[in-house]
Amino acid sequence: MHPLDRAVVALLPLVPKPLVRRLSSRYIAGSELEDARRTVATLNAAGKLATVDVLGEEITRADEAAVITRAYLDVLDVIDEDGLDANVSVKLTGLGLKLEPALARENLLAIAARGTFVRIDMEDSSTTDATLALYRELVGSGHENLGVVLQAALRRTEGDARDLAGANVRLCKGIYLEPPEVAYRDFDQVRSSFVRTLDALLDGGCYVGIATHDEWLVDRALEAVRARGLGPGGYEFQMLLGVRPALGDGLVGAGHRLRIYVPFGRQWYEYSLRRLQENPKVAGYVARDLLRSLVPGR
Ligand code: FDA
Repeated sequence: MHPLDRAVVALLPLVPKPLVRRLSSRYIAGSELEDARRTVATLNAAGKLATVDVLGEEITRADEAAVITRAYLDVLDVIDEDGLDANVSVKLTGLGLKLEPALARENLLAIAARGTFVRIDMEDSSTTDATLALYRELVGSGHENLGVVLQAALRRTEGDARDLAGANVRLCKGIYLEPPEVAYRDFDQVRSSFVRTLDALLDGGCYVGIATHDEWLVDRALEAVRARGLGPGGYEFQMLLGVRPALGDGLVGAGHRLRIYVPFGRQWYEYSLRRLQENPKVAGYVARDLLRSLVPGR
């Protein structure tokens, strides 16, 4: 990260909350369910699908996992009531994975029981085995409305992709800072792992959510789906709310399915600060935005 970005990131906690809110408003639907409802409806009207993420900080008690689970059930009510073209993305740690795996399983099942598709986000590498194991177990026992995520940055991912034949998989680069033993650190290595993993998933008959804003990867993905004769129903692109909208619009205009990841929740501030500080790269983008907004014309 550029030293100036690093300085801005270090100072973020001192930035007035309303300014952080303004900066993060592009990336977060808002603090209330109504905000998510409105954002998803707007996306749908523009021909985009959505996946809704309820923001939550790390939980330490079962009742906190219950609150997050309840919030997801409320999201699913809204999706049904308004006939929104959307699904949900959940984090197993928010459902209780680190407290008791059985608790996360029970909460995930309560959410999946509604029938809407549920994407299990992938978190840091300490959770990969447990996440894939729970996904496999539940799909194996007939819960077909579940999907999982693979991170191209992890060295293990190409192998995991080969074991997931027929699955519904979101493929992303991976947002967590991982040790070099488990993850590629080099930008081109991550890109090439993404391409190899995408090939493995498509060859294994997976439905892939191609989650990237990297135009080079979008082009490689378009070549990969074209080479296999897949129509727009055979895969989808996925992007984060507020990130590179022009790239997404281009894909939609060309007839591809695009799903936008829509985070919302009262913990937007904690979430924004933590994500910004945890990931220098994302922080760098936002730091540049901050600078632009403070120094007009830069
Ligand atoms: P890259 O980081 O190279 O970005 C390409 C360009 O996009 C940048 O140059 C910049 O212009 C822009 N950009 C990217 N991210 C931005 C941001 N946050 N703000 C502003 N501009 C940005 N990770 C994970 O570990 N587990 C998960 O479950 C998910 N889930 C997920 C869902 C969806 C729909 C997406 C799009 C991404 C994720 N991720 C994720 C995050 C993912 O792993 C990755 O960190 C980001 O997508 C950034 O990687 P890119 O492939 O976009 O490339």
